Amino acid sequence: MSNLWKTKSLSQLLETAEESEKGLKRTLSATSLVALGIGAIIGAGLFSLTGIAAADNAGPAVTYSFILAALGCAFAGLCYAEFASMIPIAGSAYTYSYATMGEFIAWIIGWDLVLEYALGAATVAASWSQYVAKFLLTFGIELPNSVLHGPWDETPGYVNLPAILIICLLSLLLIRGTKESAFINNVLVILKVTVVLVFIALGWGFINPENHTPFIPVNQGEVLMNQGQMGFFEFFNSEYFGHYGWSGILRGAGVVFFAFIGFDAVSTAAQEAKNPQKGMPIGIIGSLIICTILYVLFSYVLTGLENYLNFKGDASPVTTAFAKTGYTFLNSALTIAIIAGYTSVMLVMLMGQSRVFYSMSIDGLLPKFFSDVSEKRHTPWKTNLIFMVFVSLFAGFVPVSDLGHMVSIGTLFAFALVCIGVIVMRKTNPNAVRGFRVPFVPLLPILGVIICVALMAGLPIESWERLGIWLLLGLIIYFVYSRKHSKMNQK
Ligand code: ALA
Repeated sequence: MSNLWKTKSLSQLLETAEESEKGLKRTLSATSLVALGIGAIIGAGLFSLTGIAAADNAGPAVTYSFILAALGCAFAGLCYAEFASMIPIAGSAYTYSYATMGEFIAWIIGWDLVLEYALGAATVAASWSQYVAKFLLTFGIELPNSVLHGPWDETPGYVNLPAILIICLLSLLLIRGTKESAFINNVLVILKVTVVLVFIALGWGFINPENHTPFIPVNQGEVLMNQGQMGFFEFFNSEYFGHYGWSGILRGAGVVFFAFIGFDAVSTAAQEAKNPQKGMPIGIIGSLIICTILYVLFSYVLTGLENYLNFKGDASPVTTAFAKTGYTFLNSALTIAIIAGYTSVMLVMLMGQSRVFYSMSIDGLLPKFFSDVSEKRHTPWKTNLIFMVFVSLFAGFVPVSDLGHMVSIGTLFAFALVCIGVIVMRKTNPNAVRGFRVPFVPLLPILGVIICVALMAGLPIESWERLGIWLLLGLIIYFVYSRKHSKMNQK
């Protein structure tokens, strides 16, 4: 009888790391790792979801939502940093949980990461297409609504065609073996950060204080609750919850949490870091800190330029808000930089996805074709092709906010498990060498879990249902296939 909770030993993992290290060079400095993090982090969350979270949930207080989300990420980030400095190999959360909580939880995380990486790429693609459409418009080319939106969008069309095209293009690029070099990534990061800085610096002078008043829009449900006319649970289950007020800040945090996703991608480069013990924590925490500062300032300016209600359903709020400045001639340059910035996020996500399924297939939890590597191009092309179709379908037909919610809930779930993993690892391997140690264990990881669960609680109930369905599907596959084929269970 196989054991669901059997773990991979740390020495087994480090051996794997040494073996695979033969093909990889340790070239990434701490600075490159920070750049890698920012490259994977800044994207649709900031340039697209900020406006939607302000309009639907938090109003100008979306700035607070960013701080709350950053706090949740900080705790999880510290836990990732400890693991990455300890087990410097690819596979990220999936690998860490195999070592700490056993195969069953590892499977759940690996399966759950599809929501983060594959659907993450779909979300970014869906919002990418809105910016492309706006950009083409400056040349007089107008794409019809029917090929820009799926049937369930607020402005329904047939399909989001540019989103499908970019996913196919990037997947084919990955299959060809074109690797995003550190140089290209650095260029994209400089472009992206420049856009954010230019937006903040030029927009600051055009902030209209009226747009920031009230900073936290009133939530009628909270008013009724304060007057004693509504109980907490009634409020929690009512339509008021999550629409403005403090509950809106909470739900907004769950939405803009998406903007921070990607810092964990730094941990997948652990095998290529020059000095992973030091570089990993700097890369993860450093990129998180820089992005948090940029996000808070950016969202403050965005909601100051334009009334938050005007961002409803607007997936390209940057150009909408920037129209309020005297620098509209910069719009095209901003749009190009944003489009370029999105591209690196999608590439990293698609690559991350194939890496996780590759690792799971090597372990026998998924069929062998997921780890089949093309002899000529050295890429897991079958996985890339399968995900090209899967991600395209989501990008083409599902509304961007639904996608964003699913990515957020899936990732928060993975983060919570990584936080728990640190506590478990301290008990099971207390003396293992750790390049970085999370301070105040178990307090900080527990706080991490609490914040992640709170952010999950702020997300709409449908996201929970979808997460449940996805995990249920995963459980069926695990018990029908993976458990029997697991290599570890055959030993
Ligand atoms: N954090 C990434 C983005 O916002 C996923 O696009």
